[in-house]
Amino acid sequence: MTVEVIVLPGEGIGPEVIAEAVKVLEWFQKHRDVHFFIRCEPYGVDAYEKYGTLIKEDVFSDLLSADAVLFGATGGPAFDALPDEAKISGNLLAIRKHMAVYANLRPVQAYDALSDVTSLKAEVVGNVDLVVVRELNGGIYFGEPRGRDITAAGIERGTNTLVYTAPEIERIARVAFNLARERRGHLHSVDKSNVLETYKLWREVVTHLGETEFPDVLLHHIIVDNCAMQIIKNPKQFDVILADNMVGDILSDLAGAITGSLGMLPSVSLSNFDENGHRCALYEPVHGSAPDIADQGIANPLAAIMCVGLMFEHSFQLSKETELLTKAIEKVLVAGFRTPDIQAGSLGAISTKCMGDEVVQALTRLNHG
Ligand code: IPM
Ligand code: MG
Repeated sequence: MTVEVIVLPGEGIGPEVIAEAVKVLEWFQKHRDVHFFIRCEPYGVDAYEKYGTLIKEDVFSDLLSADAVLFGATGGPAFDALPDEAKISGNLLAIRKHMAVYANLRPVQAYDALSDVTSLKAEVVGNVDLVVVRELNGGIYFGEPRGRDITAAGIERGTNTLVYTAPEIERIARVAFNLARERRGHLHSVDKSNVLETYKLWREVVTHLGETEFPDVLLHHIIVDNCAMQIIKNPKQFDVILADNMVGDILSDLAGAITGSLGMLPSVSLSNFDENGHRCALYEPVHGSAPDIADQGIANPLAAIMCVGLMFEHSFQLSKETELLTKAIEKVLVAGFRTPDIQAGSLGAISTKCMGDEVVQALTRLNHG
C-alpha cells in the first residue's frame, strides 16, 4: 500500500512538532507494513519567501488528490507582517474550504498519567473521552456580508455574518450522529437558539435528523454558555459534542483544559467521499503556532504525533497502527517524560525532539514485545 501524505509544517512551532510527527511516520514506514510517500512542502511565510505565495499553486491543487494532508500551524508575527493581499489566497481557511473538509473531529481524552497536570480535579477529568465535532466550512468564519467600513455618521464598523443553510447543518449533524452511534450513543448539540435565528434553524434541523435517521442516539440540546460551564464542571457527561465553526473552535480549546495542555489535542477534518471513494483529510494539531515558544525546542509534539494516529484510523483504516501509537504515547507519559506544558512536580522537562525520540523508542519496544 502506497499513499501520498502532503506535509505542510507552516509557522511558529509548526515545523518543530511536525518534524517529530514525520519521524513517527517514518518509523511506521520502516518497521510496519505501511508505505507512505511523504511530500514535505513549504507553507506560509516560508513559501512566501521562496515563491511569493502562502502555498505553491501545484501543491494547493494536489491537496485535493493527496490521501492525507498533515498541517503544522499558521500565524504569528512573521505571518502578520506579510502584505495583506498575500495572506488571503491559500490561507488555512482557504485550504479548509478548498478541500471541502467540513467535518472537524477533535477528540479529547484524559490521560491518567497527566492527572497531576490539569488544573481540574483528577476525579472530575478522570476517564473523560469525548469528541468535539466542529463544522469547519461555514458559519461566521465564511459568512457574507463581512468587512469593515465607516458608517454614514463617520463611525468605524466591523461586520461578520453567522449564516448556515439547512443542508450545511444536516451534513455536519449526520457526521456527529454517526460518530455517537459508533461510540456511547450520546450527542450534545450546542447552540444559542434562545437568542439567534441561525441556531433556531440549527436546533430544528438536528432534531429532525435525530428523529428520522438516528432514533437510537440520545440527543441533548445544550445552550453554549451552559455547555462551556458543563465541560469544566462535569466533562464525563459528554460523548460527542456537535458545534458550529466558532463555537466548536472555542469549546475545543476549553475541553483542552481537561487533558492539561493544548499540546495534547490532535484533529482531523474530513470531506465527503467522491464517486471514486476518495475523500480529503486534513490533520492539524489544535494548538496553533504558539509564537511565544517557537524555535526554543520546548513545544509539545504529542498533538502532532497523535494526528498520525488519527491519520491511520481515518485515512488508511490501520486501526492496529493507531492502537500501537496510542500505547506508545501512554508509555512515554507514564514513564514521566514531559515537555514543559505538561510538566508537574519534580519531573524534569524534555525537549520537543526528545519527546519524539521517546515515542519512537516506545514504539520499537512495543513492536518487539
Ligand atoms: C483552530 C485555530 C484556527 C481556527 C485559527 C488559527 C484560524 O484556532 O484551528 O482552532 O480558528 O479555526
Ligand atoms: Mg482554535
